[in-house]
Amino acid sequence: MLTMAYAVLFYVATALLAGGLGYRIWQYASTPAPLKIPTTPAPVTTGGVVFRMAREVLVFESLFKSNKWIWAFGILFHGALAAVLLRHVRYFQNPVWDVIALIQPIGVYAGFAMVAGLLGLWARRIIVPRVRYISAPSDHLMLFLLVMIGVSGLSMKFVAHTDIIAVKTFFLGLMRFDIQPLPSDPNLLIHLGLVALLMIIFPFSKLLHAPGIFFSPTRNQVDNPRERRHLSKWAAKLEADGGGA
Ligand code: HEM
Repeated sequence: MLTMAYAVLFYVATALLAGGLGYRIWQYASTPAPLKIPTTPAPVTTGGVVFRMAREVLVFESLFKSNKWIWAFGILFHGALAAVLLRHVRYFQNPVWDVIALIQPIGVYAGFAMVAGLLGLWARRIIVPRVRYISAPSDHLMLFLLVMIGVSGLSMKFVAHTDIIAVKTFFLGLMRFDIQPLPSDPNLLIHLGLVALLMIIFPFSKLLHAPGIFFSPTRNQVDNPRERRHLSKWAAKLEADGGGA
């Protein structure tokens, strides 16, 4: 019964995450950018834009320039999250890739680093009056959700072990539509329940900044308005039809 409920929950969550994210990305990709608005000084070649975007995504360059504290906690959380997620790949593959096996020991420390980074970001929302004023309930709830996922994960490692072989069998089974029994210890059920909740709300949440950054006109445009006239698709169509200014 419990196994069935979690199996259905994960199928629904995966469908909503994939469908919702796909829909959002399609929305972002098809929204016209009518103006040339790269944040200057900006690269003047496409290669330059790719390089700047890579710096933005990998080391949060503009955040570093604007606020060192948020940058430090932000990079701690996101870097640790990447390591934790890579460590989790072992639950979804058999045999496990060498690189995933190699990262296992780092992943445990990353669990603590992830929670520490989140608590730092959360403290800022409570301590800094200016930031507290603009923090909505959803900002606090997302942080709470992520902290609880981390804490429940760590509790399985350090407080009450779960049967990770059975967890893996369950998820490998889900991927083959062959439902296998899921262990029923509370820490695991809380961890997985919160993860499914995260997957479901992701496409409606502020966490969309992850795919969104790639579609940000101030970041993805080449600074070449003198060399090439900037015309969004709908404006070009309007012009061809003889309308517009
Ligand atoms: C379906 C997806 C997931 C499954 C099956 C899963 C399962 C597990 C299990 C079994 C553990 C205990 C590991 C051990 O005892 O060695 C764990 C730990 C942990 N999980 Fe998850 N988890 C999932 C998704 C996530 C997500 C999305 C996050 C982060 C947002 C996360 C964060 C953590 C953390 C921080 C730990 C503790 C550190 C570690 O062992 O890596 N988990 N998870």
